[in-house]
Amino acid sequence: MNDLKKILIIGSAGQIGSELVLKLRSLYGNDNIIASDLKDTPTESIANGPYEKVDINDSKRIVEVVKKYNIDSIINFAAILSANGEKNPMLAWNVNINGYMNILEIARELNLKRILTPSSIAAFGPSTPRENTPQETVLKPTTIYGITKVTGELLGDYYVKKYGLDVRGLRYPGIISHETLPGGGTTDFAVAIYFDAIKYKKYTCFVSEPTRLPMMYMPDCLKATVDLLQADKDKLIHHSDFNVGAMSFSAGELAQSIKKYIPDFEIIYKPDFRQAIADSWPMSIDDSAARNEWGWKPEYDLDAMTKDMLSAISEKHEKGII
Ligand code: NAD
Ligand code: SER
Repeated sequence: MNDLKKILIIGSAGQIGSELVLKLRSLYGNDNIIASDLKDTPTESIANGPYEKVDINDSKRIVEVVKKYNIDSIINFAAILSANGEKNPMLAWNVNINGYMNILEIARELNLKRILTPSSIAAFGPSTPRENTPQETVLKPTTIYGITKVTGELLGDYYVKKYGLDVRGLRYPGIISHETLPGGGTTDFAVAIYFDAIKYKKYTCFVSEPTRLPMMYMPDCLKATVDLLQADKDKLIHHSDFNVGAMSFSAGELAQSIKKYIPDFEIIYKPDFRQAIADSWPMSIDDSAARNEWGWKPEYDLDAMTKDMLSAISEKHEKGII
């Protein structure tokens, strides 16, 4: 179902937004995907189409941009992630929740067609079953980021039920990519390890060797996002909180996968405050609701991702970009 005409993406300059802008422009046309973020001008990678400076906490400005482009749908990627959130809980609440409420209210008032906001595996907590974490389970996170993600899911579902707004969301696992660096989360080690493997053949990891988390490669993240965005509304039983899985591995297994290509790669483990966050999250995810309701199916496993990541980062290294 491809019924959307003009989409505004808020928080477009980050790890996922910067790639989703390009993916959606290839599907909907450059002029129909309006990128936005806090800076005055777009980052180079998303400069191939319209861009506006938008702070999610500035409702007036969002309404101005929605009216200027006749926007019918908003994708909200503005967020303060888990590790940065622990350093500034008030900012995390203000952006992730007060900002999100602005979007929901504007969508309700202006009768927008669809809203998509990601949730995260951070919505779960230490009392949630950690293996094959079910769709419906205990949601008692211990980070401010996780608390905002659960609240965001509940708010989204509230607007669906109370106002009939079409709000969608998915609980991304840790996202791994090589175009834009991640923005201060706990799963960032799974990206940094590839860059350091190419640059130094050595990585100091901030979680321990057996730490196992659900992860996903960027092409699958983009596919999941577009598939849910375009899913047939009548087939959706869930709305703001779809579990989505792809792969699950420990930091040690990730290092082993890199060693297959770089045999003299070395890793040392120096866990910091992010270890406790990782230990409170699931190790693997049951995503059968996403599979049944909108046909979710990932393509990449750990070795396929490692091959692709190392090849892309090596190319950047050879060109002197990193
Ligand atoms: P990111 O930190 O890389 O990017 C977030 C963007 O939001 C940044 O460009 C930042 O400038 C912008 N932003 C911050 N405050 C803003 C404000 N007040 N107004 C407008 N923009 C603002 O994050 P990401 O990894 O691209 O995450 C996108 C979404 O996916 C978030 O909701 C995040 O919680 C979720 N998510 C990401 C991951 C992951 O591994 N990357 C995993 C689970 C969920
Ligand atoms: N990758 C994110 C983080 O670590 C998960 O939502 O914060």
